[in-house]
Amino acid sequence: MTVETSEPLYTADIDLEPVRQCRLAIVGYGNHGRSHALCLRESGVREIRIALRDGSPSRAKAEADGFEVIALPEAAAWADAISLLAADEAHRQIWSDSILPFRKPGQALILCHGFSIHYGLIEPPADADIILAAAKGPGGAVRQEYEKGKGLIGFWAVHQDASGRARELALAYLAAIGSGEVGIFPTTFREETVSDLFGEQVVLVGGLVALAKASYERLVAAGVSERMAYIDCVHEIKYLADLIQARGIAGMYEAISDTAEFGARQIEGKIAGPALKAVFDQAMADIESDRFARKWVETYEAGDAMKAERAADRALPIEAAGADLRRRIYGATK
Ligand SMILES: NC(=O)c1ccc[n+]([C@@H]2O[C@H](COP(=O)([O-])OP(=O)(O)OC[C@H]3O[C@@H](n4cnc5c(N)ncnc54)[C@H](OP(=O)(O)O)[C@@H]3O)[C@@H](O)[C@H]2O)c1
Repeated sequence: MTVETSEPLYTADIDLEPVRQCRLAIVGYGNHGRSHALCLRESGVREIRIALRDGSPSRAKAEADGFEVIALPEAAAWADAISLLAADEAHRQIWSDSILPFRKPGQALILCHGFSIHYGLIEPPADADIILAAAKGPGGAVRQEYEKGKGLIGFWAVHQDASGRARELALAYLAAIGSGEVGIFPTTFREETVSDLFGEQVVLVGGLVALAKASYERLVAAGVSERMAYIDCVHEIKYLADLIQARGIAGMYEAISDTAEFGARQIEGKIAGPALKAVFDQAMADIESDRFARKWVETYEAGDAMKAERAADRALPIEAAGADLRRRIYGATK
């Protein structure tokens, strides 16, 4: 039995004052940055400023939402806690160029993903609380769930507890973005990082996209129309994902037709064979060493990361089939 047995904490168990009393700078105003800022303000955090790079396209949105926007060095000098919600691959540059040289002594650092601490892209000063407050899921969902009176499942960890109060700040932060309504669990920076990277690489993004593209191409090669192939191999993913989220894998199998279940059971074991295990082992080895992280940060810092791949994807027939379907059924233009 390997089910995690630690009990979650809920809003009723948590004092929000440690975060409410903070001067909090949120670095980045993307999916997580915007959602966290709006939720924290509604949860009673009075002093929030948004720290953005010069010329940031997000400035207008943050100001329209009623936040004061400041430069990164100014935030570093002002805040009691920095919530670093910029892209992970930029953390090393942001930290060394714009935060560390200007940083207020004793300032806490809050992260939503363990990446930059686990791989040593940020080396914490001895006087800093280093906190993981990860609401698990896309940033937009943090806000959507909060507006429904809920939140995303939260995970907290403390890498360094200089103040002796890091745990309290981690829990208060997560409760203030809604995670206390569904449950907050302990983790470690290593566990959150390895699990997050592996899950997105082999299942949620890389694995899913590989299966969708290859199966679409095989159906079209068999003479099926592009529209029908797109519906069966891409469009319907959402319905299955919703079933799995609501009922688990066994529950999903019970909810679909017996024909679909029988066919899937013939194939499942064949896909999950030695070739897949080799891909998974390699992905895990690259994540557990720092090979993946180093390669990604170096690629980003060299500039124009993934520009060619993105352009090539846009030109694929599968994208035209999807765009045509969305235009016809939803009137969407992309
Ligand atoms: N716990 C989870 O399940 C989970 C899920 C998703 C993401 N996350 C984490 O949340 C954090 C933010 O992710 P996100 O999805 O919100 O990203 P996002 O939507 O792509 O937003 C990234 C933000 O980073 C800023 N940024 C990028 N490069 C920068 C630079 N060089 N200097 C200053 N700012 C820069 C962008 O600024 P501009 O607006 O100026 O372009 C943007 O505001 C990451 O640490 C990510 O790993 C956690």
